[in-house]
Amino acid sequence: MTVEQEINRRKTFGIISHPDAGKTTLTEKLLLFGGAIQSAGAVKSNKIKKHATSDFMEIERQRGISVATSVMGFEYKGIKINLLDTPGHEDFAEDTYRTLTAVDSVIMVIDCVKGVEPQTRKLLEVCRMRKTPVIVFINKLDREGRDPFELLDEIEKELKIKVRPLSWPIGMGKQFKGVYSLFEKNLILFDAGNKLKAENAIYINDINSAEIERNVGERFAQILRDETEIIETVYPVFEPEEYLKGNISPVFFGSAVNNFGVRELLDCFVQIAPTPQPRYTDLKEVKPADKQFSGFVFKIHANIDPKHRDRIAFLRVCSGVFERNKNYYHVRENRQLKFNNPTAFMAAEKSIIDNAYPGDIIGLYDTGVFKIGDTLTEGAKESFKGIPSFSPEIFRYVNNTDPMKTKQLNKGLEQLTDEGVAQLFTKTLNNRKILGTVGVLQFEVIQHRLKSEYGASCTFEPINLHKACWISSKDKKKLDSFILEKSHHIAIDKDSKPVFLAESAWTLQMAQEKNPDIEFHNKSEF
Ligand code: G4P
Repeated sequence: MTVEQEINRRKTFGIISHPDAGKTTLTEKLLLFGGAIQSAGAVKSNKIKKHATSDFMEIERQRGISVATSVMGFEYKGIKINLLDTPGHEDFAEDTYRTLTAVDSVIMVIDCVKGVEPQTRKLLEVCRMRKTPVIVFINKLDREGRDPFELLDEIEKELKIKVRPLSWPIGMGKQFKGVYSLFEKNLILFDAGNKLKAENAIYINDINSAEIERNVGERFAQILRDETEIIETVYPVFEPEEYLKGNISPVFFGSAVNNFGVRELLDCFVQIAPTPQPRYTDLKEVKPADKQFSGFVFKIHANIDPKHRDRIAFLRVCSGVFERNKNYYHVRENRQLKFNNPTAFMAAEKSIIDNAYPGDIIGLYDTGVFKIGDTLTEGAKESFKGIPSFSPEIFRYVNNTDPMKTKQLNKGLEQLTDEGVAQLFTKTLNNRKILGTVGVLQFEVIQHRLKSEYGASCTFEPINLHKACWISSKDKKKLDSFILEKSHHIAIDKDSKPVFLAESAWTLQMAQEKNPDIEFHNKSEF
C-alpha cells in the first residue's frame, strides 16, 4: 500500500459526552464491530465516580485502565480507525481538550432523557473553536426520553451547531419500534428481548411502502411519514462537505446498550468522517502527505508502578512516516532522539511497531524529556500550535512539609505538571509555587502521587484567585513596568511566560481598563 493509501484509509476520532450518557458503552460496541474485542464488558469505564474521589486505590486503578484505553485502534471495512478516549469526569476536562487536538472528528453522545448537559456544552465549545466535524448520537431510545424534535432544537440552541438527522426514531421507551435510516433508506426494527442483529434491517426505498405498516403498525407508520416530511422541509439536505467543514452535524438515534443503531452510525462514520487533516506549526501548514515526518505530543502518562519512573508520551503523527530506530529532532530540547520500542494501540493491546502513518497515535517511552505540546520532526525547527494551556479555575499554594525532600518535591511537581495533571506557576516576588487546576480532584491525585512516586510531602493552601491570564504587549517597556507595578500579582508559568493573577473578575477588568497596552490572554498560546 502506498503512503497516500495508508493516509486515506485512516480516521482518528474521539467520543465525547457528559458522564453517564453512554460513551463507554458505545465505545465497546464499536470495538465489537471492529473485532477488536470479543465480548461485551471488555472495555472498563474509566470514569471516576463521585463517591470515589477520595479513594486512591480507585484513582490508581483508573489510571491503569486509562493507559490501556487511551487509544483504541481497529479495522472496519478496510478503514483503520483510531479511537481516542477522553475522560468523562469534568475535573479532567483539560485532558480532554488536549486529546481533542489530536483527533480529526468527534462523535458526541447525548442521553435522550437528559438532553444537553454541562460537560457536553464545554466540550462542544472546543470543537466549535477548532471547527472539528461532529456526529451526534442520541442514546438510550429504549427509555422514555424527550421528543426528538425538541432534542434537536435544544442541541442547536445550546450547542450553537446546526444539525441534520440521518436516522429517525419510531416511538420511544416501551413503545420504541426502531429507527428509519434517512441515510440508507431502510427500517431497522428494535427487539429489546432479542438484541438486534443487522439482519433485522428491512430495506425500503419508498417511505410510503406498506412494508412499514406491516412492521410498525399503522399509527407509527403515519407518524414516521409525517415526521420525515417535516425533517425534509425543515432541515437542509445533508452535504458531506458541510459536515467536514464543521458547519453541520449529522444526527443518529439508537441505544448503545442494546447495540441498536450503532452499526448504522459506524457505517456512515467510515463513509463521511474526515481522513487525517493538516495541522499548523508556528511556521506553516503541515499536510499529512508531506514527505518529512512530524508529530506532536498531546498526552503523557506516567507508569503506575512507582518503581519505574518512565512514562508514555502519546504522539500524533501529522506528516510523513514514523520509523522505529530512526533519529528524530526534539524541537524544544534541540536534540536528536531515537525510539527502539514505539508502540501502537490495538484495543487494549499494545504492540511494538516499525512504522506509523499520519493520523496514527504512537506511544513513546519517555524518561522525562517530553512535555505536552512537544514537537518531533526530521530536523525542521518548527513547533505545532494549538495545544495551549487554559487558565485554571482553582488555585492553591504548595507548602512543603518535609524540607529534607525539597528536591524530590520540586522534581515531582515538575514532572507531574509536564504530564498536564495541573499547571505550575511561580510567584516572581517570593518564589512561592502555585498549582492551578480545573477540578479539586487533581490536588488529591498530586498529593498522593508526590508521596508514592517521589517520597515528597506537601499540603495545599487555598488562594483566592479568579484567573491566571498570560500577558503580553507590543511595547516591551510597558509590559516590564506593568510587571513591576503589579509584582504582588505576577507569576511565571513553566515556560517562564509572565502571568497576571487576578483575584476577581473586577480586578481583572480594572487592570485591563487601566492598561490598554497590555494584552490579557485566557490561554498560553496567543
Ligand atoms: P459514560 O461512559 O458516558 O459515563 O456512560 P456508560 O457507557 O458507562 O453508561 C452509563 C450508564 O448508561 C450505564 O448504566 C449503561 O449501561 C447505561 N446505558 C448506556 N447505553 C444505554 C442505552 O442505550 N439504554 C439504557 N437504558 N441504558 C444505557 P449503569 O447502570 O451506570 O452501569 P452498568 O451497571 O449498566 O454498567
